[in-house]
Amino acid sequence: MTEASPRGNTLREDQVLAILDRARAARDAAYCPYSGFAVGAAVLTADGLIFTGCNIENAAYSETICAERVALWKAVSEGHREIIGLALVAAGQESPRPCGACLQVIAELAPRVTICMGNLAGSRSLADLAELLPQPFRLSPAENHPTGGRQP
Ligand code: THU
Repeated sequence: MTEASPRGNTLREDQVLAILDRARAARDAAYCPYSGFAVGAAVLTADGLIFTGCNIENAAYSETICAERVALWKAVSEGHREIIGLALVAAGQESPRPCGACLQVIAELAPRVTICMGNLAGSRSLADLAELLPQPFRLSPAENHPTGGRQP
C-alpha cells in the first residue's frame, strides 16, 4: 500500500480528490440502521463520468449491499465498463478497505482500477487491486464448462 503511486496508478491528483469528494457526499445517503456504519463510494470511468453508491442494509443481513458494489453496478448498468478509479469513504481511524466480496467484483469489472480509500478526517491511501486481492478467483467459461455449463 503506497500513498504516492501504487503500481499502475493512472489517476491524476485532481481525479483522486474528485472521487474521494463524491464518495464522501454519497455516504450521506447510506441506509445503515443495523450497523450504523455509513460508507460512500464513487467510480470514475475512462470518459470522465462519476457514478456514486452507498451501503444499503437489510433486516435479512445477507441482503445488505456495499457502497462499492452499488457504484460499480450503476456504472456498468449504464453501459460504462472502462472504470479507472474507485473511491470509498467511511469514518474511522484508518481509511477503510473494500471487503472481500467487493474486491472480487472489482476483479471482474474493474481489474485495472486505482482504489482510493479515505476517512472523514482526510487521511487516505491508494492501492491497486493486486495489492488488496493478489489472486482473485477466475473462471473461464470455455475451459471450465465445455458442455455449456451442464455437468456431463
Ligand atoms: N460496507 C461497505 O459498504 N463496503 C465495504 O467494503 C465493507 C462494508 C458496509 C456493509 C455494511 O452496511 C456496513 O459497511 C458494515 O459492515
